[in-house]
Amino acid sequence: MITQKTTLNMVIGFPLDHTQSPLLHNTVYQHLKIDAVLMAFAHPEIAPLISAIKTLNVGLIAVTMPFKEAVIPYLDVCTEEAKNLSAVNTIIQKNDALHGYNTDITGIEYALRNVALHQKNVLIIGAGGASRALGYVLKKHQAQLFWLNRTKEKALSLISTFGGQAIDREALHEIHFDVIVNTTPLGMHPNIDQSPIPHEIFKQDQTVFDMIYNPLETKFLKQAKIAGATTVSGIDMFIAQGIQQIALWQNKNIHTTDIEQLAKKAFALKRST
Ligand code: ATR
Repeated sequence: MITQKTTLNMVIGFPLDHTQSPLLHNTVYQHLKIDAVLMAFAHPEIAPLISAIKTLNVGLIAVTMPFKEAVIPYLDVCTEEAKNLSAVNTIIQKNDALHGYNTDITGIEYALRNVALHQKNVLIIGAGGASRALGYVLKKHQAQLFWLNRTKEKALSLISTFGGQAIDREALHEIHFDVIVNTTPLGMHPNIDQSPIPHEIFKQDQTVFDMIYNPLETKFLKQAKIAGATTVSGIDMFIAQGIQQIALWQNKNIHTTDIEQLAKKAFALKRST
């Protein structure tokens, strides 16, 4: 029940028609008996949103496109990781100060927690903001990176930061990839018939991870499954990054594994109604 003591949290971005953060956060708040509500605030400019956050004493702010970099100058404190990535997806307001974090890294680590990465060949499809967070994690694990992107210059820019080499579509069949990750929007609702690479590239001994979570199983993952590969849906990353946001705000450990099934049930329920 919403009372006079209920904390207001926000997801900010523009547009926000497809954000699932309210569903995830409000499901977890209810489960953990946290007296808060998270609501979506879509606005094309960041400055008025920051003013609203400070005026209303908002506790947690989930930050999405296009503000992940734009919020950084407004922060009082920011983690080194988020600064290095030039991307903040979480702000916590405490003692009148704004603290910035990047929990996409935690989300990626969680999605790939059962996958061997050290010295493994990893194909990264795309070279946007999500690929940067992935490159950061994979560099830490000393994986061998192969970058496939529509705009090669963007891949080369990420290579200068995270290492690895660019690869052309025509050369994909020449390398054996242990892990393949899609970071592009290809296959996302409503364009569910798209897939970023041909199905021949998938093999039985691979792990294939799609950062898209709508639909839960993309064409890319369906093709990988048919080839016998192990698949990981973007929903695992999305849930883990959101739970880490709540853990940072509440300043306590919350185990994703304890809440993953509950959150997935909430997503399934929403889809069926
Ligand atoms: P984000 O920053 O959130 O990761 P993005 O910048 O919208 O998302 O896109 C991520 C990647 O998907 C980009 O590298 C983009 O390719 P470009 O660098 O050429 O822009 C890639 N991408 C987006 N739409 C695509 C499409 N229709 N075909 C191929 N790649 C696409």
